[in-house]
Amino acid sequence: MKVTYYGHSCFLVNFAGTKLLFDPFITPNDLAKDIDVSAIEADYILLSHGHGDHIADAVELAKQTKAKVISNYEIIVWLGRQGIENGHPMNHGGAFGFDFGQVKYVNAVHSSALDDGTYLGNPGGFVISNDQHSFYYAGDTALTLDMQLIPRYTKLDFAVLPIGDNFTMGVDDAIIASDFIECNKVVGVHYDTFGYIKIDHEEAIDKFKQAGKELILVNIGDSTDL
Ligand code: NI
Ligand code: MN
Repeated sequence: MKVTYYGHSCFLVNFAGTKLLFDPFITPNDLAKDIDVSAIEADYILLSHGHGDHIADAVELAKQTKAKVISNYEIIVWLGRQGIENGHPMNHGGAFGFDFGQVKYVNAVHSSALDDGTYLGNPGGFVISNDQHSFYYAGDTALTLDMQLIPRYTKLDFAVLPIGDNFTMGVDDAIIASDFIECNKVVGVHYDTFGYIKIDHEEAIDKFKQAGKELILVNIGDSTDL
């Protein structure tokens, strides 16, 4: 699977020929100023929760790409009010078979409201799988024991976990999460974007290595094959 990183928690996975874009937050992100948003293509846009740093570019990119948007029920209803009708609502514990594979919307321990107080459901993560490939995007979350359920469903090839601390798990908890999900290949996201979540890259990579795991930090705009 080819994974392209657009900064913060925004990345694109080419999943068996289908382009899955997650949590678009590009135009407000100074670190991602070299990304040409108008060139991004997607078949599906998946939104983990309703914070601005995950949905800032969702409406524009949904219009531009004509992608179907997958998220929780409340976010899909909210997008409908912005003129995005091509949505697929889910809720926690539910799975659905799309043309590219199965998506399961799983628990995340976090919050999910707009700055004006608009309620956008409860935050989640996604487990994406077909009969050959499987990965987990945790969204914004604390370390939670619920992660131990995931290897009961599927054998993950890799996981995308937040590592910036303060608002989500930090590196040490992400290493424990990696044990819970039984997956040693981790792509780190949700770090460096704001002052609160700046991390030491070398130290983070080294901590994973000490634990017998691999932490992959993709440069913004770059791709990696996983
Ligand atoms: Ni958040
Ligand atoms: Mn966030």
